[in-house]
Amino acid sequence: MTKLALRGGDPIRTKEWPAWPQHDQRELANITRVLESGNWGGFPSPNVMAGEFAEKFAAYHGAKFGICTTAGTTALEVALKAAGLERGDEVLVPALTFYATAFAALVQGFKPVFVDVDPETWCIDAAQIERNITPDTRAILPVHLGSRMADMDRIGEIARVHNLNVIEDCAHMHGGAWRGKGAGSLGDAGCFSFQSSKLMTCGEGGIIITNDEALAERCNAYVNSGRGTGSDRQAAEGTMLGWNYRITEFQSAVLLAQLERLPEQVALRSANIAHLEQRIAEIEGVSTLPQDERMTTRSGYGVVLRYDERAWRGVSRDRFAWALHKEGMKLHAAFYTPVYSAPLFAWKDAPIEVDYSQVSCPVAEKASGKEMIWLPHEIFLGTTADIDDLCDAIVKLRENIDELAE
Ligand SMILES: Cc1ncc(COP(=O)(O)O)c(C=O)c1O
Repeated sequence: MTKLALRGGDPIRTKEWPAWPQHDQRELANITRVLESGNWGGFPSPNVMAGEFAEKFAAYHGAKFGICTTAGTTALEVALKAAGLERGDEVLVPALTFYATAFAALVQGFKPVFVDVDPETWCIDAAQIERNITPDTRAILPVHLGSRMADMDRIGEIARVHNLNVIEDCAHMHGGAWRGKGAGSLGDAGCFSFQSSKLMTCGEGGIIITNDEALAERCNAYVNSGRGTGSDRQAAEGTMLGWNYRITEFQSAVLLAQLERLPEQVALRSANIAHLEQRIAEIEGVSTLPQDERMTTRSGYGVVLRYDERAWRGVSRDRFAWALHKEGMKLHAAFYTPVYSAPLFAWKDAPIEVDYSQVSCPVAEKASGKEMIWLPHEIFLGTTADIDDLCDAIVKLRENIDELAE
């Protein structure tokens, strides 16, 4: 029997995984253009490349307007503020996400209310949204997590009935679509991140997309120190408080090139994810989450597997993940902890009174504590042979379950 790498045996894989981020001559040519132009910054807002990128990115996702920002977090801050939320208003957020989703609300005095996640998608559980609505609720902030989209049909209906704003956190969903409509174009606004690890990146950056012209104008002003767009109106129209969250021309130059590459990367990942699903279906003790046919373009920052400890004689998810890591695999166990218990979510410092000490979302806690295996998107940018390595490593662990369980 082959010895597990965990116990000094040969690992299944020693080869590097596909690198991330990726770039080629297109990024270089665009950056050089900016450098030589001397027009480097974000003002006037939007500047030349920022404006071109925002328009193209929004159109790609089926939205009329795009407003670039410095990060995914600041995109969320701006979108919530532009939607008209006020201090003390409640925002429904999924328990399982990066803490920035909730931070963007809380830092402005809007109260995140954590809703448990759906056991089939690990995105916000639409069936639990209504029971969390109070007279103070103003917005729903679904996050499309782990290559799955939240149930945007149900969320749209609830929002209509209760007159709530929907701000989609699409930090993980560049290029994804629901019933043929681009992620981020289904609610009032969609917010994306371009941080280094994301599906498109310029190091740091973000964008808000929307079909609502008035909302877009307010977003523009909040990003641009409270001013209107363009340079001529700058002094006259400084009528509201705003941040300077303008993106630079260097960042926009990189993003324009990254956007050109996105469709082929989405298609490649999607094919490799389909291969993973086929192989995983044949292996006991791990599964992929069910596919929702309404998600018509499959994209995603992380692909998740569900680990079933009982099928592995009680071997913990963390030990399983560690054993796979030793076999040369690239993965994370528990990419996120439920936000209310995340060490970095410093809710005690909030500008309004909140207390999350008694919050409990059992599905999110189980997913994070026992079940979730997070596969980074770049491993799907290679070939099916890469995916076979991963599946072969899992099969090896199963064949050596006694050794693993020792
Ligand atoms: C779900 C989610 N929302 C928001 C953010 C914040 O994006 P940024 O890091 O660009 O501020 C991230 C980033 O990791 C994220 O994963």
